[in-house]
Order: sequence, then C-alpha cells, then structure tokens
Amino acid sequence: MGGLTMKKEVVLPKKEETQSFYNNANSNKEVLLQVKDLKKIYKMDGVSVHALRGVNVEFYKHEFTSIMGTSGSGKSTLMNILGCLDKPTSGNYYIEGEDVSNFSKDQLALVRNRKIGFVFQGFNLLSRTSALENVELPMVYAGVPASERHKRAMAALESVGLKGRENHHPNQLSGGQQQRVAIARAICNTPSVILADEPTGNLDSYSSIEIMGIFQRLNQQGISIVLITHEPDIAEYTQRVIKIVDGQIVSDKRNDKVLLASEEIKKHKKPGTEIED
Ligand SMILES: Nc1ncnc2c1ncn2[C@@H]1O[C@H](COP(=O)(O)OP(=O)(O)O)[C@@H](O)[C@H]1O
Ligand SMILES: [Mg+2]
Repeated sequence: MGGLTMKKEVVLPKKEETQSFYNNANSNKEVLLQVKDLKKIYKMDGVSVHALRGVNVEFYKHEFTSIMGTSGSGKSTLMNILGCLDKPTSGNYYIEGEDVSNFSKDQLALVRNRKIGFVFQGFNLLSRTSALENVELPMVYAGVPASERHKRAMAALESVGLKGRENHHPNQLSGGQQQRVAIARAICNTPSVILADEPTGNLDSYSSIEIMGIFQRLNQQGISIVLITHEPDIAEYTQRVIKIVDGQIVSDKRNDKVLLASEEIKKHKKPGTEIED
C-alpha cells in the first residue's frame, strides 16, 4: 500500500502551477475507466425507466472530469455503476482494463474498497462518530492496522485543513468542513479514482470553491476525479465536461479555461464575516 503523499496544510495551488499543470495535462492518456454501450433500466410496478440508454465513455488517469445534466438525466445512475454500487442492465464496464460487468456483489465490494473513493452531496458521515473515526472507518474494512489507520487519517485530515478538529463530531462542523472530512475519508485508501456526486450541492458558494480547490490540489497530486454536478460554474473548475441528457451523452469537451479555485476564492467573501457594501 502506498503511503499518502499529501502536503501538510490546505494550500491551494499557485496560479502558475495550476496553469502549467493543465496545459501539460492529457499529453499521454492512459485509460482508467471505460464503459461500452451501458444501459440501465429500472423496473418498478410494471413501469420501465430507461435511466441510461447506451453510454460509451472513457475516463483517463490523472484527469478531472465533470458530468453535467439536469435532475433525472441519469448522472447518479452512471456514478453508481462507475462506483460498483450497482450493476448495469447491459453493456460493459472496465476498470483499469478489467471487465467488472459480471462481477458478483462481493467481488464488486472488493474492487470498490480498493479502487474507489466516494464523496456525496449529503456528506454521509456517521453522526455520533468523530471526524477521525469517520475517516478511519474505510481503512477498518480494508484491514489496515490500527496505528497505520490513525496515522493516515490524521495526515488526511490535516491535508484538508482540519488539523485540530479530529475529535469534532459532524454536528460541530460546518457543511464545508463536513465535506472535507468526507474527502479525507475518500483519499485514505489511496483510490484510483474519486467519484463525487454533487459534492457542492449542499454548500454555500465560498465553501463550494474551497472544496473545488481541494479537488484541484488532489488532482495535481495525481488523483483522478469524476465529479457530478448540475451547476455550470462548478464544472468550470474541471478539465473536461461531459453533458448527459435523458440517459445519453450529448457532448464531451475539454475545458481550455479551467477556473482556478485559488484565484476565484479571492473574489468571494467568507461567510460569517461582516457584510459591507
Ligand atoms: N432506484 C431507482 N428505481 C427506479 N427508478 C430510478 C431509480 N433511481 C433512479 N431512477 C430513475 O432513473 C432516472 C435517472 O435518475 P438519476 O440517475 O438519479 O438522475 P440524476 O442523478 O441525474 O438526477 C430518473 O428518471 C429516476 O427517477
Ligand atoms: Mg443525482
């Protein structure tokens, strides 16, 4: 298991670093995730909902992609399949070249624990449990020894700017801080990819930019990210924007003007500070 290679504090990347990073990105693409003719039909009370209607797409290593679409377009359905939380009705799904389409639930769980880090809109933290314990939990399932768990969780919390908050419970943290705990939890098992489903959906605009800044920094450290959003201004922080309508991909474009969270944050007032006009 590779150790964490994270910086000690929340330092958003410098403008020059980010720009040169994105200019050089994708020069040698390596496929990380691939889906072929993916379909998902939900059957409920005799009614069939065609949530995905033949999706073909590849996600590359070290890429930061967003998937955009209106409510009901199939974003979460796609994410659940990419995250091995659900199986497609038909089609194939390859993770690092391995076809997992016909994996059993147990096999999928194993792949999920080893390769995927999740971040959800509602944070999904255990409420009666400290930030530290929340971050340690997936490592318990992965069989990481206690002392190593503790060390990694402390480092991950520090890397998202939560040093000193390790013993806080979720209700003692702001939404943005809770989402940072969720990100720390997602990176602890050194996943191949982070899947984030509307991670800024419950946050104010300042906290949203902070979260996008953390994702940008993790991405620069080599982590691949697929982020789902229905907000166009959030997609602007990502390198590639895929649009999905009615269960089909309708556009897939490189974003040549990636917004830099470290710059955008300066234009916003931190919530809780006094309002001046
Ligand atoms: N578990 C389910 N059972 C039945 N229908 C579902 C289920 N999950 C999603 N759907 C339907 O599939 C379609 C796509 O949903 P979803 O993937 O959640 O969209 P999005 O995340 O883009 O809002 C919607 O019509 C939704 O009602
Ligand atoms: Mg959704």
